[in-house]
Order: sequence, then C-alpha cells, then structure tokens
Amino acid sequence: MLWLTVPVLFFAIAHASKLVDKSPLETASYAPFGGKNASILRSPADWNRNTYPLFMHSHNDYERPVPVFDALSYGALSIESDVWLNPKVCGGDSSQDMQLYVGHDPFSLTAERTFHALTVQPLVDAIEQANTANAKYVNNSQSSLFGDLQASVSTSDAPWWNGYFSLGVGNTQPLQLLVDVKNDANRSWPLIVKALEPLRKRGFLTRYEHGKVIPGPVIVIGTGGTPIDQLVPKHERDVFLDCEMTLLHKPMPKIHGVQYEWNNTLCAIASTDFEPVALNYTGIHEPSEQVKANLTSLIHEAHKRGIKTRFWDTPAWPIYARDRVNRLLLELGSDWINVDDLESVAREF
Ligand SMILES: *[C@@H]1O[C@H](CO)[C@@H](O)[C@H](O)[C@H]1NC(C)=O
Ligand SMILES: *[C@@H]1O[C@H](CO)[C@@H](O)[C@H](O)[C@H]1NC(C)=O
Ligand SMILES: *[C@@H]1O[C@H](CO)[C@@H](O)[C@H](O)[C@H]1NC(C)=O
Ligand SMILES: *[C@@H]1O[C@H](CO)[C@@H](O)[C@H](O)[C@H]1NC(C)=O
Ligand SMILES: *[C@@H]1O[C@H](CO)[C@@H](O)[C@H](O)[C@H]1NC(C)=O
Ligand SMILES: *[C@@H]1O[C@H](CO)[C@@H](O)[C@H](O)[C@H]1NC(C)=O
Repeated sequence: MLWLTVPVLFFAIAHASKLVDKSPLETASYAPFGGKNASILRSPADWNRNTYPLFMHSHNDYERPVPVFDALSYGALSIESDVWLNPKVCGGDSSQDMQLYVGHDPFSLTAERTFHALTVQPLVDAIEQANTANAKYVNNSQSSLFGDLQASVSTSDAPWWNGYFSLGVGNTQPLQLLVDVKNDANRSWPLIVKALEPLRKRGFLTRYEHGKVIPGPVIVIGTGGTPIDQLVPKHERDVFLDCEMTLLHKPMPKIHGVQYEWNNTLCAIASTDFEPVALNYTGIHEPSEQVKANLTSLIHEAHKRGIKTRFWDTPAWPIYARDRVNRLLLELGSDWINVDDLESVAREF
C-alpha cells in the first residue's frame, strides 16, 4: 500500500502549498500581531497555563539566577529563603544594622540581598501579576470591562484572588515560602513576621484564626530555628510551622506550662532529614523493605494528622539515584520533592 499512499500524500502537500503562501513555521512569527511586545499578546492571568504546577520545593531558592521566578517558571509551588539577622553595630551612635539578609552562610551575604528584595517583593510581584485584571482586586479598564463576567464565574467559597498558577476559578493552591531562620531566632523571628507586611497588607497571606485556616495565595512557613514558643500559643497568625516529622508521634514539649498538639492548623508541612530515617539509603540500588517501612510509617504519622510531608537532604547524585529516591518517595505517598536541579526534576516528574 505504501507505493499508493506516498503519491497521495505528496499531492495533498503540493495542493495545500497553493492555498497558503507561507509555511506554518513562517506564519508562527510575532509579526502578524504587531511584534513581540504587542499588547494583544499579553494575557493578564493565563500566560502560564502550560506550566504544570508541581509539589516541588525550590531548595536554596535565592541561589538561582532569578530568585522566585526561576522556580515559578518550572512550576515549583514552594521556595526557600535562608534568613540572617545582622546585629552589627554601625557608626558612632552604636545603632545596630538589624536588617534581614538572605544567603546560605554569612559569606554569601551582600547589603542589597535582603529578605525583602530577594523574597518578599518578588512574591508580591508574582501574585499581583496574576491579578492585574481581577475586578475584585483592581479597578482598571480591563477589570471594569470584564468585572461582570468574572463575578458570574466566581462562587461564594472561591477566593477573590488568582493564585499564581492559573488552575481556574477557586484555585486555592498557594505558593509556599519556607523561611529558614539561620541565627538569633528569638530576635529575628518577629522581624521576619514584620517583613511580610507587603504580602499581608494586600491580603495575600494564608491566615490562622481561632482554629480555622483561611487560604491566601501565599503561605509562609517557619523552618530551621523558628522559635515555636513565639508561634504556637497565638490564636491569630499568618505564619505556620514546618514540624519535625519524627516527633509527631510524641507530645509537643510544653510551652509556658501548656500542652499543645501537632496538627495541620499549626504544621503546614512536616519535614525530616532523609538519611537517618532511610538508614543511609543512597538510591543506587533498590530500597530494602526496612527502608520502605520506615519511610512509610513516618509519612503515615503525618498524613493521619492531615499534614503534608517533605524529606530533605535526599541523595543528589548520581542522577539516576536521585530520581529513584524521588520516585520512591512519591510512590510511598510523600507530598513534596526537595529540588536543587529544577529543570531536570520538572522534566522527569
Ligand atoms: C520590547 O520591550 C522591551 C522593554 O520594554 C524593549 O527593551 C525591547 O527593545 C522591545 N522589543 C521590541 C521588539 O520592540
Ligand atoms: C472598583 O470600583 C467599584 C465600583 O466603583 C467598587 O465597588 C470596588 O470596590 C472597586 N474595587 C477596588 C479593588 O478598588
Ligand atoms: C529564646 O527564648 C526562649 C523563651 O522564650 C528561651 O527559653 C531561650 O533560651 C531563648 N534562646 C536564646 C538563644 O536566647
Ligand atoms: C492545633 O494545634 C494548635 C497548637 O498546638 C492549637 O492551638 C489548636 O487549638 C489546635 N487546633 C485544633 C483544631 O485542634
Ligand atoms: C526503622 O525501623 C526499625 C524497625 O521498625 C526501627 O527499629 C528503627 O528505629 C527505624 N529507624 C528510623 C530511623 O526510623
Ligand atoms: C549511617 O551512617 C552514619 C554515618 O556514617 C552511621 O553513624 C550510622 O550508623 C549509619 N546508619 C545505618 C542505619 O547504617
């Protein structure tokens, strides 16, 4: 049959080429729309529909060429910021710097790489970008033209904001920010909470109020040295805790004599160091039943409280071992994958 099909196909192509004077590739140019910058090519909300949001945590996000936005471009729903408080006394009046900086260690800090500039403001920009034509959020020519249509698809329990990833009306999957408190936790934590004000005043933060979690397009979670005694007793807060997964089955140490519990209105996620709980499993060979059983029981402890899980310090190399471990964790039901190489992991999963 092949000898018959080929001439027919050839005829079809030759015929089609007479109907249009350009090949599809030539037509796929910005020119017919007025160039790459043409306003007709700018969509206020669904520009990233083809980026599939993934439960990937962008480890050490501030080290990427473009903090926050690199991670978002691969669909990562979670980023990490390591925050340092600088107590240095400057000048003759002995006033202290007391600013928050972002970096892996004190040698990677610079005066301009602040928590505000590298983490908070980009998150504000990302959520604002997703809401540029949202009639409940702004009054501009587009939002007033389409406000009635937007109202017609909103439901009473749908949030008024768009999440960064356009998953449609009522998307409540927030961008997750893990703030790793690196030093002087008792003093830096209140400053970190204060530094979230640009997100807070726009109503972007997920909140906890008297037993209820009210979703917002961003959820902030304290990790590392976060002083839990400053967070747990509060009846109203817009910060959550990354709880230690291996401690969930034990009572929380009392705070000012009061016994609190690990639950999902406090622990937005639970994390632990992979190596010790996985009995030093490297991913190079198939995991033993013991390794799987240990991981499964930890994941189960968290899930029965409705808490999502993340293992950190998972093997990074060789690549096949890293991928095997990530796949194992997902198969066992763990929720977040800790990622350094966003591009490769986003492609693989
Ligand atoms: C598009 O806009 C950017 C910045 O607004 C400008 O740098 C660039 O030259 C413009 N490109 C074209 C093709 O007009
Ligand atoms: C936009 O204008 C309408 C009508 O004047 C008003 O009801 C609404 O509150 C305004 N929204 C914002 C976000 O300012
Ligand atoms: C931080 O404050 C708590 C009490 O609120 C105290 O127990 C702890 O020792 C303090 N840590 C440091 C390093 O000062
Ligand atoms: C969850 O735990 C927190 C802190 O331990 C506590 O304040 C809160 O009442 C608990 N919430 C529920 C719904 O049990
Ligand atoms: C792994 O499981 C074994 C057997 O249940 C237990 O003895 C051991 O403590 C567990 N190790 C970790 C690190 O969870
Ligand atoms: C894992 O490695 C550490 C450090 O080499 C060692 O102390 C520990 O005993 C090992 N654990 C297991 C379960 O092999």
